[in-house]
Amino acid sequence: MGTRSAGRLNAHHSAAAGLIQAHATGSELSWRAPLEAALEQLPADRRRQPRSWQPAGTAGLQCTTPGSGPLLDLASNDYLGLASHPALLEAAGQALQHEGVGAGASRLVSGGRGVHERLEEALANWLGRDRVLLFPSGFQANLAAVQALADRHTLVLADRLIHHSLLVGIRASGARLQRFAHNQLSDLEHRLQRARAEQPQRRLLVISESLFSMEGTSPELVELSALCERYGAALLLDEAHALGVLGPCGRGLGYGVDGVSLISGTFGKAFGSGGAFLAGDALVGEWLLQHSGPYRYTTALAPPLAAAALAALKQIQQHPERASQLLERAGRWRDRLEAAGWPRPPGCGPILPLLVGDNSRALALQQQLEQAGLLSVAIRPPTVPAGTARLRLVLRHDLPAGSLELLLRALGTP
Ligand SMILES: Cc1ncc(COP(=O)(O)O)c(C=O)c1O
Repeated sequence: MGTRSAGRLNAHHSAAAGLIQAHATGSELSWRAPLEAALEQLPADRRRQPRSWQPAGTAGLQCTTPGSGPLLDLASNDYLGLASHPALLEAAGQALQHEGVGAGASRLVSGGRGVHERLEEALANWLGRDRVLLFPSGFQANLAAVQALADRHTLVLADRLIHHSLLVGIRASGARLQRFAHNQLSDLEHRLQRARAEQPQRRLLVISESLFSMEGTSPELVELSALCERYGAALLLDEAHALGVLGPCGRGLGYGVDGVSLISGTFGKAFGSGGAFLAGDALVGEWLLQHSGPYRYTTALAPPLAAAALAALKQIQQHPERASQLLERAGRWRDRLEAAGWPRPPGCGPILPLLVGDNSRALALQQQLEQAGLLSVAIRPPTVPAGTARLRLVLRHDLPAGSLELLLRALGTP
């Protein structure tokens, strides 16, 4: 390069550096300050500190911090213990060898694989729905689901405690949102009635979950769907925590219920894998395929995860006793916790929240359990409403005998 051009380049460089400098100083003032202020204001008992874990034996997790011992896993959503099941490891390993790690492109470009089609077909048959579409995560599937069923002219009536991803989807759709009291169908009906009276032709969407992840509760689904049908509202049901565990042979609470328009499921929980899907009728399936940004503009689900999810589905189909044993265990744990003086955790699934109220007390209880060799995480606002911090106990199928007694001793209420 000649000196003249090198000089010009240097001049450009220093001019650009000056601009960047000036811009950085200006933008630091405009965008860093609110973040710093918000972080400074965050109370210590609401601050999150991620830790890393590795599986340790059956139903165990070990923190990677030096000096930590293995803890019994009462925190993750691997309800059936499938994440490390040999059938899933084998399926994911085979897919890894033959299909590669990633799909390399969107499903509508060149990212589609045979395993995606097999998984979609198997899920559609299992759930009795026309069409299943895969997504890289449940968060994304929920964005797609809401956007399929709502636009800016729609009124969405959502349970007060729905998952954050659904709220983000509602916001992205531009729809108006009203929230009804948690699982209170009379409140929902009142709102449906009013909405129909005000605008008879308005598009209505009701959103709920079949097992609320922080509450352990479920709606009366048959009544809920009948209400939606009566008022001409679509019903989106997030079955993330129910699939594999609740409903006939783990098919979820929406199985066979007519008024459920669209089901959202994830492979990140009872399926022990990762990724997600939406299941609906042919019309909604085709609409998603033709119009959904979250489906179209993302790399297809990694083939090893899809293969593991398919293997998990086979396990769930071949071993329905795992879910029923888990639910029996959940019933026994509820009885014993209640007998020990705790408010009975609501619902009947594997999520048993112990309501504590105060954030610091919930954190202290988490530590108390860790010292006794148990991992259960304190859930605090904003994940749950202020003043309702809780210890979220999650049961798994493969917990060793004596786990409940260990917990009761750790809680100081044997
Ligand atoms: C109710 C519910 N829906 C959706 C999701 C998102 O699923 P994924 O973890 O696959 O993104 C979660 C996970 O936290 C959830 O609890």
